[in-house]
Amino acid sequence: MTQGTTQGAGTTPGTGEQPAAARGTGTYEGLYRRSLEDREGFWLEAAESIAWTTRPTAALDAGERPLYRWFPGGELNTCYNALDRHVEAGRGADAALVYDSAVLGTQRVYTYAELTDLVAQFAGALRSQGVGKGDRVVLYLPMIPEAVISMLACARLGAVHSVVFGGFAPRELAARIADARPKLIVTASGGIEPNRRVEYLPAVEEALEVAGVPDLPVVVVPREGFGHVLADYPGWLGFDEALAGADPVAPVPVAASDPLYILYTSGTTGTPKGVQRDNGGHAVALSWTMRSLYGVGPGEVMWTASDVGWVVGHSYIVYGPLLAGATTVLYEGKPVGTPDAGAFWRVVQDHRVKVLFTAPTALRAIRRADPELGLLTGYDVSSLVRLYAAGERLDPETYRWAGEKLGIPVVDHWWQTETGWAICGNPAGVEELPLKAGSPSLPMPGYELEILDGAGAPLGPGEEGNIALRLPLPPGTLTTLWHNDERFVASYLSAFPGFYATGDSGYRDPDGYVYVMGRTDDIINVAGHRLSTGAIEAVLARHPAVAECAVIGLKDQLKGQRAVGFVVLKAGASVPEDQLAAELVALVRREVGPVADFKQAVVVDALPKTRSGKILRKTMRQIADGEDYAVPSTIEDATVIDRLVPVLTQRT
Ligand code: COA
Ligand code: AMP
Repeated sequence: MTQGTTQGAGTTPGTGEQPAAARGTGTYEGLYRRSLEDREGFWLEAAESIAWTTRPTAALDAGERPLYRWFPGGELNTCYNALDRHVEAGRGADAALVYDSAVLGTQRVYTYAELTDLVAQFAGALRSQGVGKGDRVVLYLPMIPEAVISMLACARLGAVHSVVFGGFAPRELAARIADARPKLIVTASGGIEPNRRVEYLPAVEEALEVAGVPDLPVVVVPREGFGHVLADYPGWLGFDEALAGADPVAPVPVAASDPLYILYTSGTTGTPKGVQRDNGGHAVALSWTMRSLYGVGPGEVMWTASDVGWVVGHSYIVYGPLLAGATTVLYEGKPVGTPDAGAFWRVVQDHRVKVLFTAPTALRAIRRADPELGLLTGYDVSSLVRLYAAGERLDPETYRWAGEKLGIPVVDHWWQTETGWAICGNPAGVEELPLKAGSPSLPMPGYELEILDGAGAPLGPGEEGNIALRLPLPPGTLTTLWHNDERFVASYLSAFPGFYATGDSGYRDPDGYVYVMGRTDDIINVAGHRLSTGAIEAVLARHPAVAECAVIGLKDQLKGQRAVGFVVLKAGASVPEDQLAAELVALVRREVGPVADFKQAVVVDALPKTRSGKILRKTMRQIADGEDYAVPSTIEDATVIDRLVPVLTQRT
């Protein structure tokens, strides 16, 4: 491929450096205004940081609105932009990926040259298994380098990866396989949790059976110490075996609008939504954020302590830092317990991390174990200039604690799987805006944000409502749901015509700072993981003793929220409550996965409902969380609430 000779004008060839305007020198205010008033100019300039095989003819293609496409006519390869071009620029010996496994006690550095070679070779292995442009590959992998290699190898081929988080059960994996219809699966023997080994191979086998594709090709990264080994699965191929016979593959140019990946996320129904990300908009937007939002460039180290199974991992463990020519840290471990609450500071010291990005729940876990950050004194964390948080609201108490103890800015920023990068943030690479506790600051360029009431009328400062984003969304955000434009439009674009509905509720203060307070739908957020209460309810309802149920997310000191189930028994069911609760907990763990962290089910004699049959989950949650609540006048039987109050306040 010859991308090196067809760089966009204005780019310093091969370095990934951005022109001044795209980099965002100047003020936030000027930059933000320009992104909306001169959308074409702003994003075409940002696009110059990317090496295109064919340059786009425009920034936005609004031809099929509301299904907007970015960078029409443009062709590129995302893997080339993340790897090869840094090697071509003479940076092959620089560190691209640092694998730090706290659970194994090992570290390994991959240079840009090494990673490029491995990825090219694994792309060859995938190709020899019949994977080509547009084909899907499901990746069910723990936090090991092969996860990054597999993602980039797909991108190199123009294939579409779909990573499934290891904490999901076989049925959830199966649902994603059935929807994405992959040509192949890449997996590993398993993941290592502090308290146990999670065996992946039987899970994959079961998922393939459930999805009705038992003969799908499977490539396995063997790891030591697991009960189930590759040899037990005839026909499945070892990762090294696949690599050994393969010819390296050159990057395949794809259209800017071609899908790079699908990432499934919880919707309000039990069926996950396949968020589709394009190649061009994604590369441009993430490159822009690396400089302007995180202030990280070539040779600097970014560590995102998340998992490649989540969007945060896609954007800022894998693509963002590599597109920027920076070094990324892949950390296999936890904030606490591997071995202690000093783990984060050890990693920062060992790899000279400049920017750390994690979830508030991880900070709360560290705080609980080491409230005074005594363990910090054992490490040199002088390289760390900023700490970023996302995944859930950064509560003011944790914000203040982290800022005081670390002595650096702690930056909350708000985004979603759907957007792929921050909707609101504090663009340190442009201008360090004042930070406010409880707020992810201001909208990022390209996001025109409104707070709307239920009827779609704009609300003023201090008034809480639905947070909506005026269309078009900026590049890098979802282009649709995988093979389901109708669901995309119905889920996001129909509630408020002309807007994308975020599903979050919040308000703005008189300075325009946004405060995101919670979801407006049945999605809950447990330890930064997004879960659908509907999916858990569907599992509870399958128990033979359960007549009906409701799952609500209650406040949790550590994890933000936890899912609690309330079940009504079928007439005549005589199972003891303790036994039933244990069975329901086991069922959710088996069907949804340990990630649901479902630990409590309570038997009640009835659920409060409106006359039209809608369960009053919000009222139940408010009672259990000790908040003020109002019982809707449409309630079918108000005495149900009276009977529930003691249960909700004492049992949960
Ligand atoms: N594979 C298999 N199981 C997994 C898993 C994975 N990749 N990740 C988590 N689990 C399991 C855990 O072992 C735990 O199982 P258990 O019930 O047997 O103990 C269960 O899922 C719940 O996990 P979690 O909610 O992560 O709780 P925890 O008590 O193990 O850890 C924290 C608590 C705060 C340390 C942890 O939640 C954390 O690091 N959170 C950060 C979340 C994050 O990075 N989110 C990304 C969005 S930015
Ligand atoms: P996910 O798609 O898993 O990244 O979850 C996205 C959801 O998490 C958002 O819609 C919010 O409800 C919540 N969220 C993520 N980051 C923040 C944040 N910084 N502040 C408040 N809520 C957040």
